[in-house]
Amino acid sequence: MYCCTKVNDDIIWIGVNDRKTPRFENYIPLDAGVTYNSYLIIDEKICIIDGVEAGEGGEFYSKIEATIGNSKIDYIVVNHVEPDHSGAIKGLVKLYPEIKIVGNVKTIMMLKDLGLNLKDDQVVVVKEKDVLDLGKHKLTFYMMPMVHWPESMSTYDMTDKILFSNDAFGSFGTLDGGIFDDEVNNEFFEDEMRRYYSNIVGKYGAPVNGIMKKLANVEISVIAPAHGLLWRKNIPEVFKKYQLWANMEAEKEGVVILYASMYGHTAEMAEVLGRELGNRGITDVIIYDCSKTDQSYIFSSIWKYKGLMIGSCAHNNDIYPRLQPVLHKLANYGLKNRYLGIFGNMMWNGGGVKGICDFAASLPGLEVLTEPIEAKGAVTPLQRDKLIELASIMAEKLIAERK
Ligand SMILES: Cc1cc2nc3c(=O)[nH]c(=O)nc-3n(C[C@H](O)[C@H](O)[C@H](O)COP(=O)(O)O)c2cc1C
Ligand SMILES: [Fe+2]
Ligand SMILES: [Fe+2]
Repeated sequence: MYCCTKVNDDIIWIGVNDRKTPRFENYIPLDAGVTYNSYLIIDEKICIIDGVEAGEGGEFYSKIEATIGNSKIDYIVVNHVEPDHSGAIKGLVKLYPEIKIVGNVKTIMMLKDLGLNLKDDQVVVVKEKDVLDLGKHKLTFYMMPMVHWPESMSTYDMTDKILFSNDAFGSFGTLDGGIFDDEVNNEFFEDEMRRYYSNIVGKYGAPVNGIMKKLANVEISVIAPAHGLLWRKNIPEVFKKYQLWANMEAEKEGVVILYASMYGHTAEMAEVLGRELGNRGITDVIIYDCSKTDQSYIFSSIWKYKGLMIGSCAHNNDIYPRLQPVLHKLANYGLKNRYLGIFGNMMWNGGGVKGICDFAASLPGLEVLTEPIEAKGAVTPLQRDKLIELASIMAEKLIAERK
């Protein structure tokens, strides 16, 4: 029998740890799993906030039963209809036919689009700052369109000051011990929150700024997201990170060197750059081979650090195939506020460096530091000097920003 995990005396975490699904949205590796957090409020009216993924329904329903026995459920608030949160709702409605679905106009429309056959008397439509009275707990709603879908909203418990923030402030990783940030080593979750943000929400900085503005004067004792750790000790730090990310500002001094190489010449150039940055006092330098490291981790590091260097060998007049999707997604997300260095390798007429230059030209928020450095096979002494110069300019720029 599942144990009930308390958020407080009358709010229970009934989420699930998913260690089976290999990839989130079928492309982002879940090396440390993911949770679908759901919360059950026990009050005069019983209310669930957010559901779980369809395949996790069994555990979800068992936890509900373990918590409330044969009682009926009055409401489920659907903050977001993406199937990781709404998949198990169909089954829930079958088990609890009297339950009312609480959402905004778009939520209800989208649930119907996903095949949920809802009648008018099964739904409660809410809009910004409406209040749902459960008895002791009064819930209100803050719309947050595009964080992460058009219908996304967050629910705020005005009684206990708990923000059920759905995808906002979420992180990958299962909850294996504690569920709060003061109960676990949360360094891991900070990284997984950034990997979640940069890959899932990263494109939507302006909408994230919108919800941050709405929440600026809201007293919050707990952030209870729909994925990963609950925050109650480090709320100001988490808000600070979100504010930086919303504006696509880097968190830290450091350089990500991302390269694509078949025979090692571009890799050698990356090594020179990395060492020369290290020689100049840059302590955080991370070199990624794009053929090896999944792009979700590369994204997370790019969101963290101010410096970026991208190198590619030429491949059929283009960027190397494994690098293309990374740059495509970065362009799609509108990466900005980064210093960029460009390098690469070729044998005939090039293509890799040209492709990176086109990528950079499409993103006005990137500051390209030097002319691109393109070697033909083995790196010449002159090209080596140019790499050292690039590292030196990057280091100077970063060091000049130290406070
Ligand atoms: C399939 C394939 C396609 C290539 N296409 C080009 C090209 O379009 N233009 C070019 O200058 N070199 C091309 N090359 C040569 C490589 O870019 C060149 O050998 C480069 O030095 C490889 O860098 P690396 O050692 O970092 O892998 C190609 C090589 C291969 C295997
Ligand atoms: Fe989502
Ligand atoms: Fe989600």
